[in-house]
Amino acid sequence: MKIFVDTANLDEIKELAEMGIIDGVTTNPSLMAKVGVVGEENVKEHYKKICEIVNGDVSAEVISTDYEGILKEARELAKIHKNIVVKVPMIPDGIKAIKTLSAEGIRTNCTLVFSANQALLAAKAGATYVSPFIGRLDDRAQEGVVLIEEIKQIFDNYCFSTQILAASIRSPLHMKQVAMIGSDVATAPYKVIKQMFEHPLTDLGLEKFLSDYKKAQSA
Ligand code: E4P
Repeated sequence: MKIFVDTANLDEIKELAEMGIIDGVTTNPSLMAKVGVVGEENVKEHYKKICEIVNGDVSAEVISTDYEGILKEARELAKIHKNIVVKVPMIPDGIKAIKTLSAEGIRTNCTLVFSANQALLAAKAGATYVSPFIGRLDDRAQEGVVLIEEIKQIFDNYCFSTQILAASIRSPLHMKQVAMIGSDVATAPYKVIKQMFEHPLTDLGLEKFLSDYKKAQSA
């Protein structure tokens, strides 16, 4: 499973990229706002910086919600770097735009997917990735990981090449669950990726190995 980091914070991206554990980055307008990047040109510049740090796909989201507007923005975003994948919302105009962009060879990530039927439509339109938001479903007392299972079954049934990008990940448990289901990608916040390293028995075990080593040296 590929791991993407869901952030626009350059330090976080740099740290994880240097460890060699991330395969890409996803952003959204909320994450860009969180790091204080505002204005069309600054946003583009920021995407460029992200692409220079990580050698993998970088999702850049459109703001427009009408077909022509989405196409215009998407074509501009795609020019920034070869690794840019244009994130398009799961709305009728978005699906229509994904179809056109896919014919033009512009890769897309259909975002804000909350049902298997939405994922099916995105795949039919030729989306490169489909992003089911599992944490936001959990927030509404619906098990998000079940959606990943459903989409996986549908995509396998019909051999769709659209990749499942499990999004809105909230915990290391989510990461394990979507990996076991066979999601192609999971995008998680920096904090969750760091939590994946942790186990108290690793820390205790290392402490013991090191103290035994020191004791043996001084004996
Ligand atoms: C995905 O691409 C989105 O940016 C993200 O995963 C949304 O996560 P959230 O529900 O924690 O905002």
